[in-house]
Amino acid sequence: MTGRIKLLRTSTFRLAALYLILFAVSVSALLGYVYWNTAVLLERQTDETIRAEVQALADQYSQRGLNGIIDTIRRRSDDDSGAVYLLAAPSGLRIAGNMTDLPAIPRGEANWIEFPIDVQNGAARENHIARAFYTTLAGGFELVVGRDVEALRQFANIIRQTIFYALAIALVLGLGGGLLMSRNFLRRVDAITEASRTIMAGNMAGRMPVKGSGDELDRLALALNEMLDQIESLMAAMKEVSSNVAHDLKTPLTRIKARVEAALRSGGEADYRSALENTVDESDRLLDTFNALLSIARAEAGQARSGLVAIDASQIIADVVELYEPMAEEEGGTLTCTAPEGLMVTGDRQLLAQAMTNLLDNALKYGAPEGEKPDITITGAIDGDKVVITVADHGQGIPEEDRSRVTERFVRLDASRTKPGNGLGLSLVSGVMKLHKGTLLLEDNAPGLKASLVLPVWRED
Ligand SMILES: Nc1ncnc2c1ncn2[C@@H]1O[C@H](COP(=O)(O)OP(=O)(O)OP(=O)(O)O)[C@@H](O)[C@H]1O
Ligand SMILES: [Mg+2]
Repeated sequence: MTGRIKLLRTSTFRLAALYLILFAVSVSALLGYVYWNTAVLLERQTDETIRAEVQALADQYSQRGLNGIIDTIRRRSDDDSGAVYLLAAPSGLRIAGNMTDLPAIPRGEANWIEFPIDVQNGAARENHIARAFYTTLAGGFELVVGRDVEALRQFANIIRQTIFYALAIALVLGLGGGLLMSRNFLRRVDAITEASRTIMAGNMAGRMPVKGSGDELDRLALALNEMLDQIESLMAAMKEVSSNVAHDLKTPLTRIKARVEAALRSGGEADYRSALENTVDESDRLLDTFNALLSIARAEAGQARSGLVAIDASQIIADVVELYEPMAEEEGGTLTCTAPEGLMVTGDRQLLAQAMTNLLDNALKYGAPEGEKPDITITGAIDGDKVVITVADHGQGIPEEDRSRVTERFVRLDASRTKPGNGLGLSLVSGVMKLHKGTLLLEDNAPGLKASLVLPVWRED
């Protein structure tokens, strides 16, 4: 497609053309109205005047005879009013008036006629147009009464020309403006097309050009850029997950292989048994890791968002507490819960329960100095338009500089290496929060950790 045709096919140009047509039609209507009201009406008025004068002269003739009309015509001819008169005998001979002879006209019946006249204007003689009414009086006398309409005609001409030029200018400007606008529009669309081509070609960091004017193209580009950000972060997460999986599953698998090989070499029944038992344990742990990773990936991808429903978080808290209270007591600790009913959020019951479980699990594991008993509080409350669920303990807590790091996969702090775990618990919590458009807040409980799930309150709409 050549550039020009492409330009004419843009929606901007079509819109501009449509407006141009509408504009031209209304301008023509307006100017036509002006033309009618000036030129046409003025000419009509002249005709009326001439007709009235003819009538007056005819009356004069019938009342005062030939002398009367000759008298009047002579008087009026002398005025320099642009009026033309001629009274001729039936033979065609001029009797009175300021015209020398009858113009070449069809004789016999009353009629409107137009003819050129010579006019003395200062020293120069000008050729003007006269419009006149020709009629025959009783006795065969011929009467012509008219006006010099040159000025009127010139005026009408000027108006007609003005209308023509105004329309022409409007059309040229409109067409030019339309082309200019579409060219600008097209250039930006082309830039967006070009940008998407380079991105498709593999430059994932590329983005749509944004002009900063906030117009519809900018908003489109911004939306596309947001989408690209999302795609990029999903791809990065996927890459990270696969490399994590490759790295963290390789170690236990290598371990299993080494044990089994050692057992096979030694050949003892007891060795076989212990190697097999060990393999079962390791496999269980591998499966756990796998499941946790899959849950995190699923939550982070945000696929499950359509499955979110309005639920009362206080019920989930109650369920989780019921499960964990015996465990806390078993260790001689306490688990206190304060959560009023009606903590409505949009969420997935199972995932939210999993997130709270992971926080409680951490509080039980790390929530008390070595040798002491964990005392854990879980609270639920509404704070403005947020539902905040907090699990607090009195352990070592997480140092400020590690708080953002611990939500990454497989991150475990050195202080807690003695306890079992994969370093996936908080990753899942933060994934679940992402899915719920909420955040995981880690704060100092002085001493201990205060981990809060901050979720938007469910709203009916
Ligand atoms: N309540 C807490 N007090 C002190 N440190 C904590 C607490 N919760 C988490 N941490 C630290 O953050 C790290 C990451 O926690 P996370 O729950 O992600 O993994 P984990 O508990 O080690 O393993 P997993 O939860 O997968 O069994 C922990 O290893 C620990 O060092
Ligand atoms: Mg944990």
